[in-house]
Amino acid sequence: MTLTPSAAETTVPTSTPPLRLKGIHKSFGGVVAIKTFDLEVQAGEIVALVGDNGAGKSTLVKIISGLYQPTEGEIWLNGEQVSFRDASDARAKGVEVVYQDLALVEDQPVYMNMFLGRELTKGPLRLLDRKAMARQTQELVDTLDVRIPSAKATLSDLSGGQRQGVAICRATHWASGLVLMDEPTAALGVAETAKVEEVILKLKARGAAVLIVSHNMDQVFRIADRVTVLRRGTQVATRTLADTSHNELVAMITGLAS
Ligand SMILES: Nc1ncnc2c1ncn2[C@@H]1O[C@H](COP(=O)(O)OP(=O)(O)OP(=O)(O)O)[C@@H](O)[C@H]1O
Ligand SMILES: [Mg+2]
Repeated sequence: MTLTPSAAETTVPTSTPPLRLKGIHKSFGGVVAIKTFDLEVQAGEIVALVGDNGAGKSTLVKIISGLYQPTEGEIWLNGEQVSFRDASDARAKGVEVVYQDLALVEDQPVYMNMFLGRELTKGPLRLLDRKAMARQTQELVDTLDVRIPSAKATLSDLSGGQRQGVAICRATHWASGLVLMDEPTAALGVAETAKVEEVILKLKARGAAVLIVSHNMDQVFRIADRVTVLRRGTQVATRTLADTSHNELVAMITGLAS
């Protein structure tokens, strides 16, 4: 049986990337932080954003998460062009960020951290629905295999890696397919980093699009599918990891031939 051309066309997947950046430019007064930046991140893909200190990586993450407005350029989420007034506006549209220093509350249980500022309530008095929050948290923690004693554990009783796992769970819970990470393992040791990387790979397996800022080249090669390089605000190159090497990346980051 042969397909007619029109039938064949309809079977071509029309995947809309969770994130699409077109011609992003950002200057602070006279200082150009990002010259022009273009990128698409597909569902189930991890893209690493690398560059030296001051290259513009965090500025880019802040633009996608509504903390800064781009001076020029377009942000598209799931096929829709967006423009954020502020970070809570971006959050409302499903943009979640995991940072190096965690925005978590030490003396609260894991499930309260998961629902921070967006707590579930019940009844006319809008009492906290702790049971529902704990149950949903436990489900996600189990799915992503974040090894913590329980969703009811107090955050201060967890290790750094476990806490970062909670932060990633929270981002996953609220994100609409895209999770941004700005050096999520910079403060962690080797074993903790390995655990967090496992969680990030689980996210990918679930079909999330992940944009991760990392200074750790070994980490980039371990977990990313593609890498894009910023050098002093200029996007130097975007490559699949299979098409580059540690030496080439370092050369592109520093601007020195390897
Ligand atoms: N709010 C701001 N006002 C003025 N300049 C800024 C502001 N935020 C960032 N910059 C400048 O933009 C440039 C890029 O900074 P950014 O924090 O994005 O770098 P980075 O790549 O994340 O570096 P690092 O690896 O050190 O975290 C720097 O020159 C920085 O001084
Ligand atoms: Mg930074």
